[in-house]
Amino acid sequence: MSITIPAVVLGAGGYVGGELLRLLASHPNFELSAAVSDRRSGQMIAATFMHLSQLLSGKTFVATNNWADDIADGSDVALFSAAPHGASAEIIAAALETAASRNLTLHIVDSSADFRYAEQSAWEAVYGAKHGAPQLLADFSCAVPEHTDTIATPHVGHPGCFATASLLATVPLIRSELSAAEVFVSGVTGSTGSGRSPQTGTHHPERDSNLYAYKPLAHRHSPEVAALAKAASGRETKVHFVPHSGPFARGIHVTVQAKAKATVSAQRLREVYIDAYANAPFVEVVDTPPKLKNVVASNMCHLSVATDGDSIVVMCTIDNLVKGAAGGAVQWMNRLWKLPETAGLSAAAPGWT
Ligand SMILES: NC(=O)c1ccc[n+]([C@@H]2O[C@H](COP(=O)([O-])OP(=O)(O)OC[C@H]3O[C@@H](n4cnc5c(N)ncnc54)[C@H](OP(=O)(O)O)[C@@H]3O)[C@@H](O)[C@H]2O)c1
Repeated sequence: MSITIPAVVLGAGGYVGGELLRLLASHPNFELSAAVSDRRSGQMIAATFMHLSQLLSGKTFVATNNWADDIADGSDVALFSAAPHGASAEIIAAALETAASRNLTLHIVDSSADFRYAEQSAWEAVYGAKHGAPQLLADFSCAVPEHTDTIATPHVGHPGCFATASLLATVPLIRSELSAAEVFVSGVTGSTGSGRSPQTGTHHPERDSNLYAYKPLAHRHSPEVAALAKAASGRETKVHFVPHSGPFARGIHVTVQAKAKATVSAQRLREVYIDAYANAPFVEVVDTPPKLKNVVASNMCHLSVATDGDSIVVMCTIDNLVKGAAGGAVQWMNRLWKLPETAGLSAAAPGWT
């Protein structure tokens, strides 16, 4: 018999929140119970996300304090947060208090950066602020689902979008020991990567027909990728990361380069990735350099490799809002509730967007 679990989305008015609403609307087991936005409380969801008007017809946003109003005491709940970092941890802490008072059993997946570090000091050093709920850090694991079979915590902090692409491309190589544990990563992201609030870096005249690097070797996701690569591979990993703004709305293309320790063949390198992702339904090792349009709007990651025997290149494409955020969060939530990992996520990319 199929189960139905109420789902709650915090930060539901943003780009990742909207993707969560879209994915949950056709999920076989999670049923949207609350789309939380204080600013939009009482407004029709379709007024913010017109592309969801048929799927979420008549449904409205609710205020943070009312997220559990439509959920029966004692229920299981799938709670997603797509709130900004710095705010997410506090709202999650308050939600857990409400859950305890109502005897709700929660699994949480947070798309923000608030639960990506195990140590409070590590998070505070990167984000330059006090952590909003350090008492909860031990209850969250952070990993790309493809790199761990089991987790020991009830909740997950999802790695960021650049981190997801970088880790999927890097970890098998580091684990294989074919190269030193040092990678040079160049990534290009679409404008939705910076969220809904307009900024110079996301403004159409700045980005359209344009391509530029930002924060070279100084992006705050570099230490996150290094820490997660070490956790997944067991090797201290150096990451040199240069992000770029691309002239498109969604998608991430990452190129990882490393030096081979000894001469390596293209076939051996490819086998490493095929073996690493043999049981990963959302990762496909492709024969030619991957293209954004083949993954955008889907939960897929396409990877391909190249080598001249001495240099190693791994290329990776994902959708930043799906595999890098909302889809990856649903994938983790499926696992936390012991549902098939692909539930609600099997739609193919449209191919032409
Ligand atoms: N965009 C991406 O590709 C991407 C990828 C991976 C991870 N992430 C992470 O996912 C989260 C959401 O990203 P996004 O791109 O969707 O950002 P966004 O478009 O700016 O949306 C964030 C939403 O959170 C709500 N919000 C703002 N301040 C809040 C507060 N103090 N308390 C509670 N809610 C608040 C707002 O909802 P209302 O407008 O309704 O008030 C806002 O629309 C961020 O933590 C981001 O770092 C984003």
